[in-house]
Amino acid sequence: MKAMKAKLEYKVDAQLGEGPIWNHVTGELFWVDIDGKLLNIYNPDTKVNRSLNVPSRIGTVVPSGEKEAIIALEDGMYKINTETGLISLFSLLEAGISENRFNEGKCDPAGRLWVGSMKLKNEGVPANLYMVDHDGKTSIKIDGVSISNGIIWSSDHKIMYYVDSPTRKVRAFDFDISTGNIANERVVVELSEADGFPDGIAIDEEGMLWIALWGGCAVARFNSESGKMIAKIEVPAKNVTACAFGGENLDTLFITSASVEMSQEECAKFPDAGSVFSIKPGVKGVRSNFFGKII
Ligand code: BGC
Ligand code: CA
Repeated sequence: MKAMKAKLEYKVDAQLGEGPIWNHVTGELFWVDIDGKLLNIYNPDTKVNRSLNVPSRIGTVVPSGEKEAIIALEDGMYKINTETGLISLFSLLEAGISENRFNEGKCDPAGRLWVGSMKLKNEGVPANLYMVDHDGKTSIKIDGVSISNGIIWSSDHKIMYYVDSPTRKVRAFDFDISTGNIANERVVVELSEADGFPDGIAIDEEGMLWIALWGGCAVARFNSESGKMIAKIEVPAKNVTACAFGGENLDTLFITSASVEMSQEECAKFPDAGSVFSIKPGVKGVRSNFFGKII
């Protein structure tokens, strides 16, 4: 199996770096620090990272216009002007549920946002995976989730892949792009305890899955049909949270990480934890979907 090493792309001490998504219109990587309550916009050409403060924990971000994105805050979805940082409510989803927060969300090929919540503690209300339509109307697509996480669609739009981290499984569903219906649930990847927990996921142009390994110091490439690990990228951080293909040619894999939930020893071993890492893994990704009409 091919083993590779990610390099430090941008040194920063994010608490819970997450949700990277490449904005191919602006040539920037959008990513969040959930616990740091920051939306980050990183330009790999200039190596400048711009941070916008948001009022509560930010679960994810998806571009929705030239200077606009949708962000998940603790009670719902908001629009944010990516220049001024001004936010306005778009859709309330979990108002009044203080036991949960949002965690990861991406758009399907029709530009609807699929966003999930997670329990902050083990007890409390179950979390859900929601679908948010262009007009802000929402529906619960999967209920009884623990830690809703990575979600991605195949290039032919027929399969949706989804992670509920504590299950250590990536599940696949048949996807109907016209209605957003999902059916025929099956397990496509199951991680061993030694791999850690599956976190964010990306897909490449060969249809293979890239899975960030929380607790596993790596991102691994899995065959989406056989479920076998076919490549591993070591990352100098314990808790690797998500990855996204980006760069002009979509040939760079950007990787986010967390600096939380590490022992003192681990903190000393991984001084760059919380930073953004990158690698050119030798295969290209596919464009990410934006919210709403395709721009
Ligand atoms: C969440 C963490 C969680 C982890 C588990 C991440 O996406 O942000 O809070 O502990 O997934 O896999
Ligand atoms: Ca995640």
